[in-house]
Amino acid sequence: MLVFAKIKSVQQKIESLKKGTSVGFVPTMGALHQGHLSLIHQAKKENDIVVVSIFVNPTQFDKQEDLINYPKTIDKDLSLLKSVYCDIVFAPAANEIYANDIKSQAFDFDGLEFQMEGKFRDGHFNGVGTIVKRLFEIVKPTKAYFGEKDFQQLQIIRNMVKKHQIPVKIVGCDIYREEDGLAMSSRNARLTNEHRKVAPFIFKTLKEAKIKFGTKNASEVVSWVESEFKKQPLLELEYFEIAEENTLLTIKNKDPKQKYRAFIAVFAGKIRLIDNISL
Ligand code: PAJ
Repeated sequence: MLVFAKIKSVQQKIESLKKGTSVGFVPTMGALHQGHLSLIHQAKKENDIVVVSIFVNPTQFDKQEDLINYPKTIDKDLSLLKSVYCDIVFAPAANEIYANDIKSQAFDFDGLEFQMEGKFRDGHFNGVGTIVKRLFEIVKPTKAYFGEKDFQQLQIIRNMVKKHQIPVKIVGCDIYREEDGLAMSSRNARLTNEHRKVAPFIFKTLKEAKIKFGTKNASEVVSWVESEFKKQPLLELEYFEIAEENTLLTIKNKDPKQKYRAFIAVFAGKIRLIDNISL
């Protein structure tokens, strides 16, 4: 496994590959867990070589505190990547990517950016668009892998790639979960024991909401979820929404031709957790 910190050197390596070599790319912010590794496994299966980036992107954090507190575990990350036979790691410093100008480009994601996470994380998706576009320019992957855990992010990347005609196939990957159903996240390690014990309630409620959506209308399901969380003092519901998968617009009337998904954000103490389920 080769590890690069400089744009020029990783580009030289990728450009030196035999013509026609397919490159699978998994962008990450490190603090790797089985969820990330599941993306890498899929990328390994579908490509000749796999490139993983580790970069805690400053422009996608709306709170400086979150950026500072973001877990950094580079040695452990590298040994995990080696264990899954990752070929190339690109782990640049912030000034390699942004020079001295840590700023986002402004994107138009056709309104996807104003839904759900966009209402609570100012500028977040411009930051994500900026870094992912830059990484695509550097790595020039054949296919790039993103988790459905961050479903809004996945749809935004799809929108960006289409609009900017970036020649890469975006692959959405299933949410990888702990045995008790909690979606894997780098943030789970920061939960207190008490919060960790109740956190599976989030996915349990999503699964029950999915069943209820079979017979009830969306507003009834939303009210039910809100009332369930009121009974759970350790978890504070930030939003629960049922939205159409492509536009991410909140459902109005159920249309059997549309695909819907339920999205949730919850505070467990100071830790913010998100999850979603297809309906
Ligand atoms: P990060 O949070 O490190 O996640 C990297 C990728 O792993 C994302 O595509 C995310 O959706 C996926 N992922 C995380 N947890 C997962 C799980 N439990 N199951 C399946 N996939 C999971 O998302 C980012 O980094 C950044 O925004 C990034 C795209 C790298 C841009 O900076």
